[in-house]
This record gives sequence, C-alpha cells and structure tokens, in this order.
Amino acid sequence: MEEPDKTISRSPYYLGFTTLNSETSIPKLPVRGVIPEWLAGALVRTGPARFEVGDTKYNHWFDGLAMLHRFAFADGRVSYANRYLRSHSYEEAIAKGTISRDEFATNALRSFFQRIALLFSPKITDNGCVNIAKMGDSVVALTETRFPVQFDPGSLATLRTCEYDRGIKGPVATAHPHFDKTRSCNYNYVVEFGRRSNYHIFKIDKKTGRESVVLTIPVDKPAYMHSFGMTERYLILTEFPLTVNPLSLLLAGKPFIRNYEWEPNRGVRFNIVEKDSGKLIRTALAKVFFAFHHVNAFEDGNDILSDIVVHPDSTVIDRLYLDRLRSPEPIPTTGKLTRFRISSDPSVVVKQLSDFPVELPRFNYPSNAGRHYRYVYAAGSGAPGDFLDNLVKIDIERGTAVSWSEESCYPGEPVFVPSPKSSNEDDGVILSVVLNTRKTTSFLLILDGPTFTELARAELPHHIPFGFHGNYFHFAH
Ligand SMILES: [Fe+2]
Repeated sequence: MEEPDKTISRSPYYLGFTTLNSETSIPKLPVRGVIPEWLAGALVRTGPARFEVGDTKYNHWFDGLAMLHRFAFADGRVSYANRYLRSHSYEEAIAKGTISRDEFATNALRSFFQRIALLFSPKITDNGCVNIAKMGDSVVALTETRFPVQFDPGSLATLRTCEYDRGIKGPVATAHPHFDKTRSCNYNYVVEFGRRSNYHIFKIDKKTGRESVVLTIPVDKPAYMHSFGMTERYLILTEFPLTVNPLSLLLAGKPFIRNYEWEPNRGVRFNIVEKDSGKLIRTALAKVFFAFHHVNAFEDGNDILSDIVVHPDSTVIDRLYLDRLRSPEPIPTTGKLTRFRISSDPSVVVKQLSDFPVELPRFNYPSNAGRHYRYVYAAGSGAPGDFLDNLVKIDIERGTAVSWSEESCYPGEPVFVPSPKSSNEDDGVILSVVLNTRKTTSFLLILDGPTFTELARAELPHHIPFGFHGNYFHFAH
C-alpha cells in the first residue's frame, strides 16, 4: 500500500511552529558575505519555542514558552546562543510536566477548586515571549502582563521576575513600551479590570526607576490593545472595538482572548494624552479596523499623524491559532500600512500608505521615534496566502517599496540598526531571522539599509521557531 503523503496536511512553513528543545552556544557561525565592521553589539530576540508540555499543548502562536536568542557581532564575526527564559511559567510547567499558567489563548488544566482559589490569588503569566526592551537600566523580556522578566543580555541568564509598581493596578499591560529620549523615560499602560475598569498610562523614569501614573482613563469595556502610539508631546491610545466584559474575564473560565468580543459598531477611538500635563486633550472616532502594531506617529501643526498596520477586523487573531498555522489552509496577510491624520475638529483622515501586505513593522526608532520619518521595514507577504514570505522597505515619501525574498524562506521581524556615522535615516543594516524550510534551518540575514540588498548571512545548524520581536543592543561581544 502506498504511504500517504504527510506533507499535504501541513503548511509549507510548519517547521516554524515546532518546538526547539536544544540550548546552544556557538562562538562563530559560518558567514556568507561581509558583515560591516561597525556592527558591534547584539540582536536579542524572543519568541515561543516550546508548544507542548507533557500531554498538554498550547493553542496559539502567542502562547508557547519563551526562548531568548542572541546574535552577537564583533570584528565581522557573529556568535549565537539561545536559552529558555526561566520565568515562573516555564519553571512551574517543567516541574509539573504540564502547562501551569494561563496564557493568551490557552488555560492551564485546573480543578474547580483550584480555579476558585485563583480568583483570590491569581497566578499571572510572566512568559516573556513577545518583546525585548530596555526599561530603566534593565533588559527585560515582556509578555502582555505586569510582570516583565529581567535577564542578562550577555549570558541570557534569567535574573528575576519584576512587577510594575503595585500602586498602578491591573494584570494586563502591553509588551510594546515606548522610550522617550527627551524625557528619558519609558511609557506603558496597564488595564485594571473590575466593576470600574481603567487604563492606567504610566511612565518609568530611567534614572530613578520611579514609576508614576500619567493619566487614568475609566472604561466600561476595556479594549484589547497590543501597542500604542507616541509623538514628541503625546501618547495615542487607540481603542479597537475588540472589547471585554470584565466580569466574564473573572468568571467565564475561558482563555483570556476568547472573552473579548468584536463590536464593529463602536468604531475606533483615538485617545490623545499630553505627556507633560497628563491630560486627555483630544478624542476622535474612526471607522472600524483592528491592529496589533502602531508604527510611528508625529505632529504636524495641530494635527497628529499616527501610522498603523491596519487589519479589517480581529479575525487575524483566529488565523494565528497553531492548528490553523500548521494546516495547509493559506494564511493571508491582511495588514496594510495606513496613516491616520487626527485633527483638532476632531476629524480623522485615513490614507493607505502602501499596497504591500505587511506585519511586524519597524523603523529607525533611535532617530525618528515620535518624529517625521520616511522608511518602514516589515515582514510581508508576496504570494497570496503564503504567510510572511518576504521583507519590505516602504518609502512613505515616494510611495514606493522594495522587497527581499528567496524560495522556501520565511523571514521574521526586520530590526533596523543605524550605522554609527549615519547621516540618512536608512543608513544602517536590517537584521532578520529567516527560516529556510527546504534546508530545515534558520539563518540571520543582514540587508543593506539604503539598497535593501543582502550584505551577509550567518547560518544556524537548526531551525528557530517563528518569534515576534527583538532589539539590538550596543555592548561588548
Ligand atoms: Fe507585537
């Protein structure tokens, strides 16, 4: 009898959603091409790397146990190391041999009595699989809760689970804090759920580490917001109509995101908060859409311009369940880079900036965060339904785009690193971890900023599961 072709029942990029068990340190990766000599620092990334524990399985891409990856550059060479983040979520899961804390779309198995006990003493996940950031003097791995995990960016050793100031209440936060160079502080927000729910926007002073509330906005049904916008003077909290009844979060027993409902009639509300006064200076309504990622935002006279990767609705979350991602059913990328001009009338003018379907957007954050800018880098989809199969550089000013792609290759978030003597916004390199499904391994791709062509690649001996975000840090090899 003929063997059934097992590959038919899998997506071509299935490998990117399979567990990587091994933790390695490789002092020198084989490199093709030439790595710029000025590149002296490390790209540190996070992402889910373990999708099952014992007999229990995580449901969603956002759920898997976090692994840290470090590509360090010195003298034209590149080293690699990876370590699981030893969060409480990880340690408990490994010790018990089962998923132990609730994640974005997966709940731990619990008895009725254990669940009741949790109402009084919740064990919130600290599985920092979403983003890496410097907050104060600490480098942390973040998930969407109030518990960042500090680690050593040199050794990748987990140091401790931190917690935002207890005076700033609420379990849920964004994993996309902003850094304000002028004020030398981070901004973020937490959501407090209760009979009266609140968004608490707060800042962390870099020098003192002191956390203080900028503004509290009361809300009946909190929205799911993965990120927020920032200009030089303002923060932009964009409420999409994916909202939750706080009681259901507490009592329904469903995984976190499944308590949220899409209410398109609400539209989208932009809340503009002045950083220095802590005042809500403007709210404006726009037609319905959903987004994970704000890109950049800036001021133009009295107008505020916010660039966002827009999806038509929240079904994009459903497409990112692991069963769906591993299945042969195509995954269309629906994100479009879109500009919202929020005037003081208050009106909102919407303009799509590029036709390319994109996600995981980046730009030259060190120079241009909150300011006028020209270039966006993102992972994109060249072939319809083929997940993220290319990288794109969008020139907003000219309305043009260039892309990089290679057969059987699926790139992750492109991180822009400015060159030390850069005079132009795109003077630097773009770093992206790419999965080659034909070779069943990943490599680090280095593209030239101005031309968006390959400078070099460093090959790994194994695959890296698809991750989300990372950052580049200037420090010794
Ligand atoms: Fe994100």
